[in-house]
Order: sequence, then C-alpha cells, then structure tokens
Amino acid sequence: MFDVYEIRKDFPMLNKTTKDGSKPLIYFDNAATTFKPQSVIEATSRYYLEDSVNSHRGDYDLAYRVDSEVDHARNNVAKFINANKSEIVFTSGCSMSMNLVAYGYGVKYLKKGDEILLTEAEHASNVLPWFKVAEMTGAVIKYIPLTKEGRLTSENLKKAMTSNTKVVSVAQVTNVLGFINDIKALSKVAHEGGAIIVCDAAQSAPHLKIDVKDIDCDFLAFSGHKMCGPTGIGVLYGKFDLLKKTEPFMTGGGDNARFDMCGNVAYLEPPAKFEAGTMNLAGIYGLNAAIDYLNKIGMENIELYEKELHDYAISKLKTIDNLVIYNETADTGIITVNVKDVFAQDEASYLNSKGICVRSGEHCAKLLKDILKTVATVRISLYFYNTKEEVDALYEALKNGGNFLDAYFS
Ligand code: ALA
Repeated sequence: MFDVYEIRKDFPMLNKTTKDGSKPLIYFDNAATTFKPQSVIEATSRYYLEDSVNSHRGDYDLAYRVDSEVDHARNNVAKFINANKSEIVFTSGCSMSMNLVAYGYGVKYLKKGDEILLTEAEHASNVLPWFKVAEMTGAVIKYIPLTKEGRLTSENLKKAMTSNTKVVSVAQVTNVLGFINDIKALSKVAHEGGAIIVCDAAQSAPHLKIDVKDIDCDFLAFSGHKMCGPTGIGVLYGKFDLLKKTEPFMTGGGDNARFDMCGNVAYLEPPAKFEAGTMNLAGIYGLNAAIDYLNKIGMENIELYEKELHDYAISKLKTIDNLVIYNETADTGIITVNVKDVFAQDEASYLNSKGICVRSGEHCAKLLKDILKTVATVRISLYFYNTKEEVDALYEALKNGGNFLDAYFS
C-alpha cells in the first residue's frame, strides 16, 4: 500500500487553503474532476515548451517526435485497460466518446422499434445522446429496473431484454450512488440477447482496474480529467470490428486517405478515422503521464484504499442522527447524503465555509429522483489522496450541519 502523505506532496492543489487563508482546503469533489500531480502538469507543459508542433502532418524531427509520443500514449492507454492500440480513439472526454457511439453506431444501425436499454442511475452523457438516437431513428428507450437500493443486476437486465433490444448502455460505476455494475455479467446477458453493450467508465477508470477483454464490453468511454489527467482529453475504446463499422461522427483533416469532387471519401482505418482535426496533443501528453502515475501507485491499491476510506467515512457519518446517507453500501468512494431539513445547496455552501468542497444538486443524473426520493443531494466523492483526517473534519462539520445558520455564522 502507498503512503498517502507522501503522495499528497505530488499535488500542488493540495497545498491550497480557503479564500481567507485560514484553513487547508479539503477537496471531496473528485467525481467531478480530480487534482493533477506535478508529473502531469510537467508533461502537459513539455508539449508546449519543447514539442509544440502538429502530429501526423510534418516531415521533420519535431513532428516525428510528437507522432511517437501520441503513439506511445495510445499504447499506454491500451495497456491500461487491456485493449489493442488500434481500438483506442482519443476524444475530448467521456461525453464526446458516448456521442461518438450514439451518432456513429446508433444512428447508423438502429431502426424504428429497436430498443436501447439504460437505467435511471445514468449520467446525462449516457442518456441524452441516446434520446437523440431515438429521435432520429424511431428506436425506443427503455429502463432496466434497479433494485430498491438502486443497483443494477444481470437478472433484471435479462428480464428487460426483448428480441428488439439492440443496445445496452450503462455506467460501470454510477456517479451518484457509487455502485459497481458487474459489466462482465451484463455483457454476457446483452450478447446472448443479440445486443451490444456500451460502458460509461467515467467513474470507474480512475478507481478500478479495467480489463476490456475480460468484461467483454463493446465500447467503453472515459475522461482524462477524472483520473489525474488534463481536461479536454478522453478515450473511446471499441472492439476493432465495431469501430470499423462505426461512422465517424465528425470528419475533416487527418481522418481520410482521399476524397474527390463527387463526394467519395476513403476514410482511414480506426482509430484515425475518428480523430479529425488537430488533436489535444498537450492533453495526450498529460493523459499519458496520468496513466504512468496511476500505474505507479497501482489501480488495485487505489481501489483498496478508497474502499477503506469510504468504510471509515461511513462508520463516522452513520453516527450523525440527522444525516441521511443514500448509498451506505456503495462499493467506491462516493457518499451521497442530505442533512434533514437542509437544502443540499445550502449544506454545500456551509461546508464550503469550513473549507470543504463537495457537489450538491442532481449531479447530472436527473432520472434518479424516484430511487432517491429527493431531487437534490450532497455528494462527497473521495480519491486516493484524501485522508482520514479530512474525513474527520467533514464529520465535525456535518455534525453541526443541521444547525445550519448557527453553524454557518459560528
Ligand atoms: N460527471 C461529473 C460529475 O458527476 C461532472 O460530477
């Protein structure tokens, strides 16, 4: 296991204090985005300081160097999830990756009456692109029933599948409840029913070891910025045969071998076919460094540490009488709560006054209301650089969170 106090020295943002400089900042909004270690910041700067030319276009040493860095990064991402290099598409983030699947595969292959299965726990990025597909093709969106707790089971997927089901699209870790979905079991059911399975890995890739060959998903999407990487860079993994069949969702320079005045276009093989325009090269350098950083700590260690920190937090928060915890049994570091009779946003503002950053509201999962039986919640999301002492500070603040106004002005 790693030494969290040593690791924290790698993150400049962890030296931050509150606005008035009186307290250290405690960052518990890691499901929204994570802090970056110095190595990622340096790798991103290295592109601008030393290698600032375009990729795949220049016949000079610097351009070759950028090409080889991009190639190396693609290989690194592929190894990180046990994919092949040709199955890794660089995108701007998880949302773009999900849109690429929806427009490039969904719009091309779905037709009237086909069914797309989602769940009520999905993030907007795994719902809204499919609404568009339904609108454009006549396909129908259906929701796989969740358990009372909000979990997705393969038995429920099996019951929801019909001969019309063509796509199952679910998160590997849900962004409000923090439950891990067993993608391997779900893939088996989806494939037996003749559907493809798309996996939103935005909240899993930063926290768990992923092996796409083992879980056998058809597409998998994640963002760099939620896993210590820069913003504006993300990944779409797709099985090569499926990527070959998928239409490029945006086109332009760098994705084709030739085109003519009659409109004939010969696209390059994946992944280049999906990477029109100048890529986020600094982002790719940074993502590569982020993966090196996570590998150095070890994804298994990250998962174990976060589970331990989660369990520690739950054991403390459970003792606060007026705190409702919506996902006590979450498998990851996401803890979603409300202080009774206090509006979530007020609670988040109060925690802010104590130097604690959390997210409040619906967290882009606007279909989850029926499961939570409330609209807005406070989400505490942990990462491997958080500590028990920070959890203790959260506990102390939340203990007073019900006396909101008193506590606010104390
Ligand atoms: N998807 C991010 C979240 O859940 C922004 O907060």
